[in-house]
Amino acid sequence: MHTARSSKVLVLDFGAQYAQLIARRIREHHVFSEIVAHDITAERIREINPRAIVLSGGPKSVNVEGAPRVDPAIYQLGIPVLGICYGAQLVASDLGGEVSRRPSGEYGRVEFTLVERGDLAAGVPETSPVWMSHFDAVTRLPEGFRLLGSTPDAPCAAFEDPERQIYATQFHPEVEHTEQGWKFFDNFLHRVAKAEPIWTNFSIIEEAIESIRRQVGDAEVICALSGGVDSSVAAALVHRAIGDQLHCVFVDTGLMRAGEAETVETTFTDQFGIDLLSINASERFFSRLAGVTDPEAKRKIIGEHFIRIFEEAAAKYENAKFLVQGTLYPDVIESGTKTAARIKSHHNVGGLPEDMEFELVEPLRELFKDEVRAIGEELGLPEEIVWRQPFPGPGLAVRVVGEVTPDKVEIVRAADRIVAEEVAKASFDKRALWQSFAVLADIRSVGVMGDERSYAYPIVLRAVESSDAMTADWAKLPYDLLERISSRIVAEVAGVNRVVYDITSKPPATIEWE
Ligand code: XMP
Repeated sequence: MHTARSSKVLVLDFGAQYAQLIARRIREHHVFSEIVAHDITAERIREINPRAIVLSGGPKSVNVEGAPRVDPAIYQLGIPVLGICYGAQLVASDLGGEVSRRPSGEYGRVEFTLVERGDLAAGVPETSPVWMSHFDAVTRLPEGFRLLGSTPDAPCAAFEDPERQIYATQFHPEVEHTEQGWKFFDNFLHRVAKAEPIWTNFSIIEEAIESIRRQVGDAEVICALSGGVDSSVAAALVHRAIGDQLHCVFVDTGLMRAGEAETVETTFTDQFGIDLLSINASERFFSRLAGVTDPEAKRKIIGEHFIRIFEEAAAKYENAKFLVQGTLYPDVIESGTKTAARIKSHHNVGGLPEDMEFELVEPLRELFKDEVRAIGEELGLPEEIVWRQPFPGPGLAVRVVGEVTPDKVEIVRAADRIVAEEVAKASFDKRALWQSFAVLADIRSVGVMGDERSYAYPIVLRAVESSDAMTADWAKLPYDLLERISSRIVAEVAGVNRVVYDITSKPPATIEWE
């Protein structure tokens, strides 16, 4: 019988932006995959005995000094190899082919024209769009390889040597824009490598549980719960692994969405029986925020104050050596960019004190948001938690423009609840909808309600489509939905007499107003 492990695929990372995306695609084919550094030895690979090896892309040219290489003995292990982009060039250059600089590189979507289907391109149509990002290209194949297809500037865009079980694509099959990407992976994993499709969310959970247990042993662990998807799933997972060794701390800042604090308390205490210390700190936050109008100052106060409160709470768990964080893979990439200008100082419940002496437990570090949601569902977390939209760490404070007062937070919270309810009820395609929420502007305008003049705040409705929040389009919400939201907010939320819709994309605007 095969265990999940014997079906593992190793992804050798050459500094690709896409290594995790490759690992994720492999998981989607229900095969376990693990990313390792590119300089792993062939000997070590032989011990691990993976089902297949993938060489990822990377930013270098194979022809420059110091370009990362693989132990050439891996080609002799008899384990199927798939080289992608840089990996494909490496295969060609290591095995006697030629890689040269082309007059123009290819970036983005180009047309792939099939020459021969072979194994890797089995079932792929004559032409299909693929996603490219290269300057160099393979210009001569090593002996024994057959050409599967080309693109305008990559004469050898896909090739294989079925004898030695070595396969390569210059394009990125892992990227959605490569229309047949799924098929290329399917062919490589199942047809060539015969990896069994036995890896599921259930196995991901099992694997995570094992590794959490290995990491923490019988030590005590604490976790700052925010009520968001990531920290909730991380906590539930760690609890599944180590039970009572886990202690959760939930700081109610008074800046959460409607029902959020209650959901956290009932879910974690009543449903999961997790040891949860819930601290109602709203008064402390409001008093610190009094009179502060600058968005960055607000963010800073909340972030720092949160840390203080968490530190006080954590001090109660003297024996705790580990801290759980719900870091996801996209957080890992984003925090890797040192050159990006600071637009907003993000505060995550994850981004806790640097000087706290904890070892981190990050069970979601290799996963994407939708995978985390699927795991949350599998662990039995309620829908409100698993499917809630992303929410900034500083909470409703950055959705009240200007000074934050309890009254204003109450207004924006009530309006936000109406937005959430109406969006949930409405039937339109919500797949691309990233966030939809209310913002309270710091101005007032005149209205007429009943026969009375009113002079009250407007609510700004913000709804965006995005896949990663780096860029976003304002969402074209159906007019009847906008109408319902507007009438309900004005009718039900005291202090509001007008609703406006933000029709700006990101950039130039940001998603949140502060
Ligand atoms: P912006 O407003 O910068 O937001 O376009 C991008 C995404 O990040 C969320 N956001 C935050 N998330 N801590 C977080 O965890 C923060 O301080 C924070 N500020 C903004 C925002 O809701 C959007 O999804």
